[in-house]
Amino acid sequence: MPLTTLIHRSSLPRPDVSESQALQLLQEHYGLTGTLQSLGSQQDLNFRLDSPQGRYVLKICHGDYSPVELQAQHAALGYLRERWLPVPGVVPARSGEHLLALSLNGQPLRARLLEYIEGQSLTRLKRLEPRLMAELGEFCARIDHALADFSHPGLERTLQWDPRHAPALIEHLLPVLVEGPRKARVQAAATEAWQYLAPLIEHLPQQAVHLDITDDNTVWQRDAQRHWQLQGVIDFGDLLHTWRIADLSVTCAALLHHAEGDPLRILPAIQAYQVVNPLTEAELKALWPMIVARAAVLVLSGEQQVSVDPGNAYSRDNLAHEWEIFEVATSVPFALMETAILQAAGHDLAPLGLVNTTLLMPSLNGQPVARVDLGVLSEHFQAGNWQQPGIDQQLLRAQSGPACSLHGQYRLSRTHIDNPQEPETCALHVELQVPSGTALQAPFAGVWHAALTGGGCLQGEQVSLWLWGVVDAPADGQALKQGEPLGQSSVGLMLQLCRVPGLCPPLFATPSRAQAWLALCPSPQPLLGFACDAEPLADAQALLERRDASFARSQKHYYQQPPQIERGWRNYLIDMQGRSYLDMLNNVAVLGHGHPRMVAESARQWSLLNTNSRFHYAAIAEFSERLLELAPEGMDRVFLVNSGTEANDLAIRLAWAYSGGRDMLSVLEAYHGWSVATDAISTSIADNPQALTTRPDWVHPVMAPNTYRGAYRGAESTADYVRDVDATLDRLTAQKRQVAGFICEPVYGNAGGIALPPGYLQQVYGKVRALGGACIADEVQVGYGRLGEYFWGFEQQGVVPDIITMAKGMGNGHPLGAVITRREIAEALEAEGYFFSSAGGSPVSCRIGMAVLDVMGEEGLWDNARTVGGHFKARLQALVDKHPLVGAVHGSGFYLGLELVRDRSTLEPATEETAALCERLRELGIFMQPTGDYLNILKIKPPMCTTRESVDFFVDSVAKVLAEDL
Ligand SMILES: Cc1ncc(COP(=O)(O)O)c(C=O)c1O
Repeated sequence: MPLTTLIHRSSLPRPDVSESQALQLLQEHYGLTGTLQSLGSQQDLNFRLDSPQGRYVLKICHGDYSPVELQAQHAALGYLRERWLPVPGVVPARSGEHLLALSLNGQPLRARLLEYIEGQSLTRLKRLEPRLMAELGEFCARIDHALADFSHPGLERTLQWDPRHAPALIEHLLPVLVEGPRKARVQAAATEAWQYLAPLIEHLPQQAVHLDITDDNTVWQRDAQRHWQLQGVIDFGDLLHTWRIADLSVTCAALLHHAEGDPLRILPAIQAYQVVNPLTEAELKALWPMIVARAAVLVLSGEQQVSVDPGNAYSRDNLAHEWEIFEVATSVPFALMETAILQAAGHDLAPLGLVNTTLLMPSLNGQPVARVDLGVLSEHFQAGNWQQPGIDQQLLRAQSGPACSLHGQYRLSRTHIDNPQEPETCALHVELQVPSGTALQAPFAGVWHAALTGGGCLQGEQVSLWLWGVVDAPADGQALKQGEPLGQSSVGLMLQLCRVPGLCPPLFATPSRAQAWLALCPSPQPLLGFACDAEPLADAQALLERRDASFARSQKHYYQQPPQIERGWRNYLIDMQGRSYLDMLNNVAVLGHGHPRMVAESARQWSLLNTNSRFHYAAIAEFSERLLELAPEGMDRVFLVNSGTEANDLAIRLAWAYSGGRDMLSVLEAYHGWSVATDAISTSIADNPQALTTRPDWVHPVMAPNTYRGAYRGAESTADYVRDVDATLDRLTAQKRQVAGFICEPVYGNAGGIALPPGYLQQVYGKVRALGGACIADEVQVGYGRLGEYFWGFEQQGVVPDIITMAKGMGNGHPLGAVITRREIAEALEAEGYFFSSAGGSPVSCRIGMAVLDVMGEEGLWDNARTVGGHFKARLQALVDKHPLVGAVHGSGFYLGLELVRDRSTLEPATEETAALCERLRELGIFMQPTGDYLNILKIKPPMCTTRESVDFFVDSVAKVLAEDL
């Protein structure tokens, strides 16, 4: 069929068949009744039939549609089904025919019935995660592999989507766009695509391809973990014999619509395809130009379709998608995508053989040139100084002689905070500090193109050399022989190589684009004659494997593929490629990471002395007094230990010694530590799945007073929960067992900071004390000012405990814990023997503990927890009104919980959604983890220096992800 007929057909409106006519047809020819639902289509009519016999799809097309093409589709369906690929079967009519030729309303039509594949398309998902991209790519590979030997006369057809016709079709359809920049861009993109494609054509293998394996035409269902699983592919209307790579190009073009504007996000699809059905180098090189050509064809055909059938809402909606695809497809240089695709498929560019070059600066030959480390671990950086504008250049200038930055180094100064985008950190160039007036000469023959003042590009045969900071540069357009003068350097000189003629590359690349850009912008080391390459980063995955092979596995790590974090600053953690993550997890680093006071204080005390509490030194008395100033009246004795576990373990021993009993009451679902005793009183199944069945007989868990999802709910539930404690105490009394004590977090931490029911502790403390027991407040997590409104959690309940335990934030990460109690309780333990902890209360620990308190005061961190924490809670609260998945916000200050539920009346925990949300937040630059026994609560406990801007970034990101499909 000639192209003009083809275009004419592409412009035909859909057949005119009403639903009642379609039902009549189904009754008459297939003996089926039921209800119909129209399914969108550009040129055909498709209906879903729900009948007592099952679900089907009725497809009706114009009568001039060649039957042999439809027969080819049916044959392919059968062929793929025989090879166990999930495609619909064709349902024969009563007559036994698979394809009916009919006439309705005077129109000749063809009709057929297919099985219906249950599920839905992924079209409405704004973003496809890499796993889904890969799955679609792999599926395309499986279909292509299966169709490799399929042949049918109906495959030899002229189809507008066949990329072989793209240039002619684009030329023919271009007039549909009005003159202007848009039209010029489509034309330019199509021309460039064809320039790339033309020399490859003769090397492209051909075969039968589906040519429409897209998000739209694949059917998916969620499994029990809510992961999308592919059910099959439909719509064989574009089946054709053409280039094999055309199939993947169609899939990839469709994926661009779900790539959030970044075309490199489609690489997992190509990688996965390559594993199943390896492509040749020519095919890999043809892929991107074919995708761009497809994008141009899509917008032009879409415009054409809308112009002939303006009432077709399906076509109008599609057109917007198609423009979006075009924008993404033309947002990066061709060479970058070509390189990235080759790399994804395991083919790297051949190295640039810069062998016969001469030195750019011969006078530097042999002189030492300092390599200035500007990477994430550089010792030049501390206390956030990398945020100062121009710091890298300052550090270069600070060298006494010639100095250079490093090519391929991920620079810390390029990081950015509270930002969902990857920062452009990888240096694709080298900066030099050389004596002003250093003579430059052309390292290879080329033509000088002057760019900005003091900058330009020497375009050689193999490569171009970009230079900035040149004085007395040659005239624009001057041809230079190798070794001819190229001007002189000013003090700072910057240079960059690029293998793509005419392309001015960026100076920095994001980590995900770095590999491709580094291949295009290789190191200028051969032109300099001294080492200017960064050491490659250690492989984070290999490091993780070493950890798993040596560090006992019960000590879990966050995330399956965690980034390697070696630096932190304030409330940010920075990976080795210079990406900053908002730290919403580290309740221990109250002051924030890398605090200079911590560095100074520990260095100073280490340089003087570090010993144990049996020696006499000032810090131990001073720190104990400082802690008692923070404690309620009547509390007058301090023990210093190294962790929350030790503090709670000691508290239990104090309660035992004081009461003379052993039996402890603890609250279900809590966590108090890992030692034998603290583990015994911990029943959080998130930490220990066997917790409920393995308690020793001295531990008596009582109901978790969870007013949100516990056995009793709301503020009125106090009496019900107290009744449960009464029952336990009555049982112990009846058994003549002496109660030793009761331990509880005064704000229910494991569930994300839920307040206990009003008056609960007052009543329980009274009852336990009446029986001679001691009441322990575990303030390890919630105490020390994090709650904003209260310094200690027990203040919220209006009680004073007998024993307070604390740790975590006390040392800002230095191992430090404490127990505060009354003298008579402390002395009860003394009666049993001495207490000694080798490092507990050491001079270094005490000095750090006091510095933490000082900084918290000086920097107003308690106020910050109250004000910024209050803003935080209000913003999270607003999510409850907006997103059905957000059930509640718990906590206060910088101890907050966002609980996700599938149903607000049953409170069904949204466990998988919470996991997906945390994973997605990480991509957006935020560390967040779930908590609670159902892992459906975001446990929000950031460093206390967290700013309002960080809070807004966090809440905006959560809202963005909630609006996506979780
Ligand atoms: C409430 C509570 N108590 C005690 C501990 C144990 O503290 P550490 O890990 O310092 O031993 C934790 C630790 O997460 C905790 O959350």
